[in-house]
Amino acid sequence: MAAVEAAWEAELEQRVRSLPVPRHIAIIMDGNGRWAQQRGLPRVAGHRAGADALRDVVRAAGELGVAYLTLFAFSTENWRRPPEEVDVLMKLLEEYLERECDELVAAGVRLKSIGRIEALPAPARDALRRAEDRTRGGDRVTVVLALNYGGRSEIVDAARRLCRMALAGGLDPASLDEDVFREALYTEGIPDPDLLIRPGGEMRVSNFLLWQLAYAEIWVTPVLWPDFRRRHLLEAIADYQRRERRFGGLSPRG
Ligand code: FPP
Repeated sequence: MAAVEAAWEAELEQRVRSLPVPRHIAIIMDGNGRWAQQRGLPRVAGHRAGADALRDVVRAAGELGVAYLTLFAFSTENWRRPPEEVDVLMKLLEEYLERECDELVAAGVRLKSIGRIEALPAPARDALRRAEDRTRGGDRVTVVLALNYGGRSEIVDAARRLCRMALAGGLDPASLDEDVFREALYTEGIPDPDLLIRPGGEMRVSNFLLWQLAYAEIWVTPVLWPDFRRRHLLEAIADYQRRERRFGGLSPRG
C-alpha cells in the first residue's frame, strides 16, 4: 500500500513540476485542536503536531519552486484562547525557530513575519528577530509567518501609516491609489497569493490577508493541519494548475 501511495505521489509531483507552480501560496493552518481531540489528547498536542506539518510543507514548497509561502500561525483573535494554550503556542514558535534555523538557512529560506509583532512576548519576538536576521540571505523561498495578525488591523495600520505620511507632507491624498496602498501593508514588496489553502474543512477566510487574497484561488481540504503533508500540497497545486484565472476579465478561449 505504502509503495502504491509513493508511486502515486511521485507521478503527481512529476505532473506538478511540468507546469508553472503558484508563485505565492498562503495557508491557514487549521484543525490542530480537532486533531488532538480525535486522539483524546490535549489541544496543545495538536499544535505540536502542527509544527511537524509546518516543517514538511516549508521544505516541500522550497523544493517545488514556490517563491513565497505565507502561514497563518496566530491571529489577533487567538489571544481569546486560554492563557495556557497561548503560552504553549508562543513557546512552540520559539522552539521551532531555534531548532529549525540551521535547516532553514541550508534550504535557502528567508524568514519574514507580518502582524503586530511588538505585542508578542519578548522571548518569541527575540527568537523571531534572530531567525529573520540569520535567514536574511535566503534566496530560494520566502516564508512569511503571520503572527498576531488580522487582515482588518493590517488595513487600519496601513491607513494610519498613510495618514501620518500625508500629515507630514510626504503624500498627496489625490495620488493615493491601489499601488500606493499596497505598499503601506505589512506585505509591502510581496506579490499577492495565487493560491489559498485551508485544511480543516472550513469555508472561511477568517480575517486572513483580506486585501491580498482578492484574486486568489481557494483550495479547502478536510485534512486537519497536523496530518497535512507534501502530497496534500501537491494535490492543491495540481488543482490550481487546472483552474482558469480571469482576474475579472474574459476567458481567452471566448
Ligand atoms: C488553528 O487550529 C491553529 C492555530 C491557532 C495555531 C497554528 C499553530 C501551529 C501550526 C503551531 C506551529 C506554529 C509555529 C509558528 C511553530 P485550531 O486550534 O483552531 O484547531 P481547531 O479548529 O480544530 O480547534
